[in-house]
Amino acid sequence: MSQCLFSMNPRILVTKRVYTEAIAYLRPLVELDYNDADEGYSPEVLVGKLRDKQGVVSQLTDKFSAAVMDQLPGLKVISNVAVGYDNIDIPAATARRILVTNTPDVLTDTTADFAWTLLLAAARRLTESEIFLRSGQWRQWRINLLCGYDVHHSTLGLVGMGRIGQAMARRARGFDMRVLYTDAIRQPPQVERDLAVEFVTLDALLAGSDFVSVHVPLLPETRHLMGAAQLAKMKRTAVLVNTSRGPVVDEAALAQALAAGTIAGAGLDVYEREPEVHPGLLACTNVVLAPHIASASIATRTKMCLMAAENVVAALEGRRPPNLVNRELWTGA
Ligand code: DGY
Repeated sequence: MSQCLFSMNPRILVTKRVYTEAIAYLRPLVELDYNDADEGYSPEVLVGKLRDKQGVVSQLTDKFSAAVMDQLPGLKVISNVAVGYDNIDIPAATARRILVTNTPDVLTDTTADFAWTLLLAAARRLTESEIFLRSGQWRQWRINLLCGYDVHHSTLGLVGMGRIGQAMARRARGFDMRVLYTDAIRQPPQVERDLAVEFVTLDALLAGSDFVSVHVPLLPETRHLMGAAQLAKMKRTAVLVNTSRGPVVDEAALAQALAAGTIAGAGLDVYEREPEVHPGLLACTNVVLAPHIASASIATRTKMCLMAAENVVAALEGRRPPNLVNRELWTGA
């Protein structure tokens, strides 16, 4: 697939609001159907809107199943404004020769910064502290008031050593931490040396880490990777951080572990059934909860939107999109 797909301006749908820079880029290049709203479309409306389109700029709330794609024979490219693409059935897209693109790299540092925000906040009991203060319970300074755990000189366990995992490891240096990691694929020795990270099994990581931060994509094999059995292997003083995808952690098991004191705390940005949050988690004050905002700096979200716009235009102009997920579809030079 390397020929020019369209001689005239292609028709594309932007399914919900994006930063205006992306719209300014798209307008002169495509025939644009822009849903300038925070609310996305229902699956039925989405299909209806896409019937006459060749491209779509989608977000992680838009689901592209095989059944949806079957109704869209004219669709050539799905450009997701996210690094993750578990909202799209990739094998089904590939089988239908639909290009899928994502927005990697631009959000790596911002996401790692936020994983550290959650880690530090959970370690130092920020949620409990703020509830305590705002509810007027703070009467006097006390030697043991809301004491938490030190991050510096402790051990960080990274589950997943992709771009964001590596950015986490780089930040850990500033805290003089030992860094363990586990992943399906071990990094080359030079990368391990440069990042000062040690490859271990998941079990060894869980047993040896004071902080466990998850950075894997959602795949069938990573669903509930952190379940009751894994949480039970963590230290009772440990903190779990998840900025990857909600279903990687079994929320019911985590809520139980937090309530029972199996682990000390958690920091979560993602949930199994967003925007729902497990009631057991809402009831725990030893967990810091954020509404899927790890990449949410204005600069980064603007870059993600622009990148998605560039990806969709490149694909429809017959150029290899810079961030092609199903690369096997690209056979051209
Ligand atoms: C992603 O990019 O996959 C995040 O979840 C949203 O930034």
